[in-house]
Amino acid sequence: MSEQLSNQQLLAAAQQFGTPLYVYHAEKITEQYQKLVNAFAKSDVKIFYACKALTNISILKHVKSLGSNVDCSSINEAKLALHAGFSPDRVLYTSNGIAFEEIEEAQSLGIHINIDSLSNLEKFGKKFGHSYPVGIRLRPNILAGGNFKISTGHDKSKFGIPVDQLDKVITLVNEYNIHIQGLHIHTGSEIKDVDVFVQGIEVLFDIIPHFNELKFIDLGGGFKVPYKHGDAETDIPLLAQKVKEAFEAHPVARNLQIWFEPGKFLVSDCGYLIAQVNVLKETSATTFAGINTGFNHLIRPMFYDAYHRIQNLSNPDGQEKKYSIVGNICETDTFAWDRKLHEIREGDYLVFYNAGAYGFEMSSNFNSRFKPAEVLIKESNMHLIRKRDTFEDLLKNQVEIA
Ligand code: LLP
Repeated sequence: MSEQLSNQQLLAAAQQFGTPLYVYHAEKITEQYQKLVNAFAKSDVKIFYACKALTNISILKHVKSLGSNVDCSSINEAKLALHAGFSPDRVLYTSNGIAFEEIEEAQSLGIHINIDSLSNLEKFGKKFGHSYPVGIRLRPNILAGGNFKISTGHDKSKFGIPVDQLDKVITLVNEYNIHIQGLHIHTGSEIKDVDVFVQGIEVLFDIIPHFNELKFIDLGGGFKVPYKHGDAETDIPLLAQKVKEAFEAHPVARNLQIWFEPGKFLVSDCGYLIAQVNVLKETSATTFAGINTGFNHLIRPMFYDAYHRIQNLSNPDGQEKKYSIVGNICETDTFAWDRKLHEIREGDYLVFYNAGAYGFEMSSNFNSRFKPAEVLIKESNMHLIRKRDTFEDLLKNQVEIA
């Protein structure tokens, strides 16, 4: 049965902790994780939660308790993961465009590293030779993902070492005797077509013979989750079946581990952003409902044209009418235009669904507004897992001169 928080639970959290408020549901994360584990049960698969989606320590601890590993995109994420109690061998740092010092730091922490440039691979080889196994992130030149901003594997993408430069990789690996333990790709986010993963596998399989110390093939994240009713999602059981068939048919790959790095799939649906309506404004164009949050708290609609379902929590039976839901940021800040919602009154509580992934994590203090508080509901208990900012937080790192 699908885990979902009830309107009453969401309202209770909003009333207790105030709005705007992020609420997460631990059992939903568990359910999503189990879907992956069950689907891939017959393959040697390791899941690394892409924690860039949501790094709250209590979420990391919950993900850890499920048995998942964690994928990081900065040294600080890696340190948060270690702080949450992940042992270094359960932490992966898939780097992109970073200073070599961060790779040195990652090495000193003993975590797995995927290197994504020839330049850092060379520095790594010079310094560590064969002593520290690493993965390499390759760019397979595959266009995939929900929109161009979140596509990362195509032939104009900054990510990874282009596969057409494989000869240069091999030269460096031979010159410095680098211990390559894995091949990595991540082609984008919101990939619903399972065949994209199969294409990626084919690209990597062609490369396998050049490396003889491989332990894993890392296929990245990017599973699509439904944002709207009727939206398609990645068919995980089908993906698992195709991946299994491909790996079993390959003489070397059949003995390799398969790594995945899902972010959205694990935490998108577990998260809710609750806001309250400050003002209603009737105009000739539309009826605006101005709420007490903005793109400073949930940037996805403005940044990616992303659709988030919205519901009026406090008047769920009101007559339906069209509203444009706008934020309180001092620039255009539209969450939804002419969206049919149950009658909205000033003070009503609205909820945005699928706010767990890249919601709080991409929030800011723009307009000097406070970042929201975060609450985790676990076994029906509400836990405050991050306090709302205070005015002192806005001043904290400022150095005032006379
Ligand atoms: N692995 C790597 C190397 C990645 O770059 C990403 C996401 C993931 C895994 C996880 O992808 P996911 O399973 O969450 O799709 N902020 C955008 C999404 C950007 C994703 C960046 N990389 C959004 O809100 O749609």
